[in-house]
Amino acid sequence: MMKQIQAGSGALFAAFVFVHLINTFLAAFGIAAYDGFQGAVRVVYQAFFIEMLLLGALLVHLVVGITRIVIEPKRSLSTRARWHRYAGFFLLFVIGGHITAVRGSSWFYGVFPGFEGLAFSIDYAPYYFVPYYFLLGVAGFYHAINGLSVGLPRLGFKLALSNRALRLSTSAVAVAMGAALLGFAGTWTDVGQPYESEFAKLALEILRGFTT
Ligand code: HEM
Repeated sequence: MMKQIQAGSGALFAAFVFVHLINTFLAAFGIAAYDGFQGAVRVVYQAFFIEMLLLGALLVHLVVGITRIVIEPKRSLSTRARWHRYAGFFLLFVIGGHITAVRGSSWFYGVFPGFEGLAFSIDYAPYYFVPYYFLLGVAGFYHAINGLSVGLPRLGFKLALSNRALRLSTSAVAVAMGAALLGFAGTWTDVGQPYESEFAKLALEILRGFTT
């Protein structure tokens, strides 16, 4: 039963992750592509009921995942499963901070990060945010796609994903994430006025509060 709950909650949240990653990849094409897509899909994933359903699925998924690791600690793991677990631990470590930073700003202050907000973060602290977002995207994709290949058969759906397909798709996502980050960094795109964005002003004000 726990395996089915883990599969169902993971599949639900994975749907959001795929849309969210497509949104991120669009940063390679600049502000209009990224913000335009986000504006269109945000009305769906931030509709109250859907957002609570997604965040609830995420919470259930990580509680069940940790519980299974604790009560079945000695399972021997394949290489794929081991990487699945490493990606899961990384996501577990960062997801609270990610949601607080990029959704907390709109929950508590009515400020959405958007393209310029992310461009600001990357310009302000590149040595932190470039590797962080790169790993978040790649680990998020790997955990979601490999999780679906394990979980969907438990729910009665078939999804055969060969090692080669997993390797190729994850490599493609790594390239797309690299391009997205270069887009946010303004390598070949116009990034607008990152330091004039409401998100930058809010973040700098909060940071000043910590340092004074
Ligand atoms: C790696 C590139 C990523 C970037 C640049 C990014 C950026 C963002 C931004 C800007 C938002 C706010 C969206 C909005 O206001 O509409 C957001 C929300 C969120 N992100 Fe990410 N994200 C990334 C990857 C991920 C991954 C891999 C996950 C999950 C494993 C994730 C989980 C979430 C969640 C749960 C929310 C809150 C959604 C909501 O309640 O509306 N993100 N992210």
